Amino acid sequence: MRQAGASPILSVKNLRTAFVTSGGRVDAVRGVSFDLYRGEVLGIVGESGSGKTVMSTSILRLLPSNGLIVGGEIAFDGIDLAKAGTRALRKIRGNRISMIFQDPMSSLNPLVPIGAQIEEMIIEHRKELSMAEVRAEALRLLGLVRIPEPESRYRAYPHEFSGGMRQRVMIAIAIACGPDVVIADEPTTALDVTIQEQILMLLRSLRDELDMSVIFITHDLGVVAEICTRVIVMYGGRIMEEASADDIFDSPAHPYTAGLLASVPNMVLDKALSLSSIPGSPPDMTRPPDGCPFAPRCGHAMNICQAGMPPMYSAGESRFSACWLLAPEAPTGGNSFRDGLRHG
Ligand SMILES: Nc1ncnc2c1ncn2[C@@H]1O[C@H](COP(=O)(O)OP(=O)(O)O)[C@@H](O)[C@H]1O
Ligand code: SF4
Ligand SMILES: [Mg+2]
Repeated sequence: MRQAGASPILSVKNLRTAFVTSGGRVDAVRGVSFDLYRGEVLGIVGESGSGKTVMSTSILRLLPSNGLIVGGEIAFDGIDLAKAGTRALRKIRGNRISMIFQDPMSSLNPLVPIGAQIEEMIIEHRKELSMAEVRAEALRLLGLVRIPEPESRYRAYPHEFSGGMRQRVMIAIAIACGPDVVIADEPTTALDVTIQEQILMLLRSLRDELDMSVIFITHDLGVVAEICTRVIVMYGGRIMEEASADDIFDSPAHPYTAGLLASVPNMVLDKALSLSSIPGSPPDMTRPPDGCPFAPRCGHAMNICQAGMPPMYSAGESRFSACWLLAPEAPTGGNSFRDGLRHG
């Protein structure tokens, strides 16, 4: 939770990440800034291709070989991760900041029993432990992620587990060293709804039990409603809106957020919303637009929207929106979305 005056545990400032491809340069993340506070679950939401994965893999410098951080800062415990050397990064990865991915099968080694894979992480970062202690710790972690009968499941191979159970193993590996920050990139997207629900519940209770901060990445605002305290909405490699989860659902302050919200099935939010997806498709990041990336799909677009990217405007207490409708000099009256923001 964000406490007044508390300093962030992780602070990303103006992060820019690009790829070199045969088709030219891809500007995937274009000046993203946010703070993460202790104990909070910060949601990063946006359609596929918004730059969520590139942003999060930039934090631990786990980018593919054609990717490069071209600007900005990632402050964590007095270190700038954007510029840190390999040794410093190795000490932080998995230990102080860890990641959970969508597909546990691609991260787990199919030839190694799951107990041994959890132990590998413990051995790498907690050299003071004896082998017996490492084993006990692995069993404790299996219990912590609610895997039944840890003693017998310890020797099982990944293929003997269901998708949900494999994701629990990945979570056990991610929390093995008591990290300060866990980055979960669409951890429930590949799972069916009931299992997704169980994994969200597990992450929520681990956040409370272990006092860690979570960056929870998803394309699904419905999932955000269940787990996040604060939300950042990304589109076209930029942040469109930042607000508390409650504010996002009560009254989105950006037309893109409003569009995402309209596509969430109403039983999730228990609100009378009609289901519709936003017409059009995300921008081509080899030729990123100068102006608001959402302009070609936005029903409120004005001339200025194509010309320049709007700055982050304050849209109330602890909430910000990058939309020209919030500019103080924007004409008043006649726009229902803006009038709702100004008077609501
Ligand atoms: N290895 C890569 N090479 C070139 N472009 C990439 C690479 N990985 C991602 N991108 C591009 O970066 C943009 C953001 O992708 P990504 O972060 O994966 O989106 P999200 O996670 O929000 O779905 C997309 O336009 C995608 O095509
Ligand atoms: S800046 Fe313009 S195009 Fe972008 S969301 Fe706001 S009104 Fe729509
Ligand atoms: Mg992704």
